[in-house]
Amino acid sequence: MNHFAPVALPHASRLVNHGPTVLVTSAHGGRRNVMAAAWSMPVEFTPPRIAVVIDKKTFTHELAMAAGGFGLCLPSQALVDLTYAVGSTSGRDGDKFARHGIEARPGPVLGMPVIEAGCAAWLECRLIREPHAEDAYDTCFAEVVSAAADTRVFTGGHWNFRVDNAGLQTIHHLGAATSCAPPVRCARSRCRTRALEPPPHLPRGPRRVPARRRGPRPPAGGAVRAARLRRRVPAGRIPARGPARARGGAAHLPGQPRAHRGLRRGRRESRLLPRAGA
Ligand SMILES: Cc1cc2nc3c(=O)[nH]c(=O)nc-3n(C[C@H](O)[C@H](O)[C@H](O)COP(=O)(O)O)c2cc1C
Repeated sequence: MNHFAPVALPHASRLVNHGPTVLVTSAHGGRRNVMAAAWSMPVEFTPPRIAVVIDKKTFTHELAMAAGGFGLCLPSQALVDLTYAVGSTSGRDGDKFARHGIEARPGPVLGMPVIEAGCAAWLECRLIREPHAEDAYDTCFAEVVSAAADTRVFTGGHWNFRVDNAGLQTIHHLGAATSCAPPVRCARSRCRTRALEPPPHLPRGPRRVPARRRGPRPPAGGAVRAARLRRRVPAGRIPARGPARARGGAAHLPGQPRAHRGLRRGRRESRLLPRAGA
């Protein structure tokens, strides 16, 4: 069965839109500004270069062009609301740093405002002038001249997204005012999957249950049947403590992601895989 369906071209960019949403900062002549940008990407390893779409009409564009550079700060989940706030108002109407109480300091090389509180990382970028790209596509190219990251989520050159540092992880704008948590590395298969772990306040069961059985379900017997009887769990469901979906357990509702099991740090954990075609 083929699960693919056409995607309307106005939605095509969303298919590749999982990169971290950034805050573009800029400062020049005593003025400073910050805006949200979902469209940024690396374009070169050495020297490190990036591209980011900065609409010509924005105050950010005006300041960045005047300054010859800008900062990219990667807001964490804690700054979702702030990100949308600075992405829906213009710095021409007032200093967004002051309005939203954003703490920033000058970056070490270009003096662009860098934000650390609530952010996972920042980069200072020196503009590489490409008048055609800027004019035709609002796309600004830049060389990264300094960068820093919170070691709780980025160490040794790698993102390290785990369940216990979820609040520090980056935001991924999916379009239409929705965002998602970043992928979590599944160490066994090196695949990248979305985390599905019970929040810390939910009880953890003594054992993990298979998220999904392959093939026809075998008749319940022995311990499983006894457990069902004890807990009065209807046939067709596997008992699990806490909300089954939050545990990556038996409940697989139509239209929701399905779970698979992965190994990490030597113990079994449930993980979510996006449904094919979802
Ligand atoms: C989640 C989000 C992502 C955005 N991504 C971009 C982007 O990639 N490029 C862009 O030019 N504007 C983007 N915007 C819109 C700008 O942030 C918005 O125009 C902002 O008000 C400009 O502020 P300024 O005039 O102070 O520079 C985004 C807004 C939001 C909320």
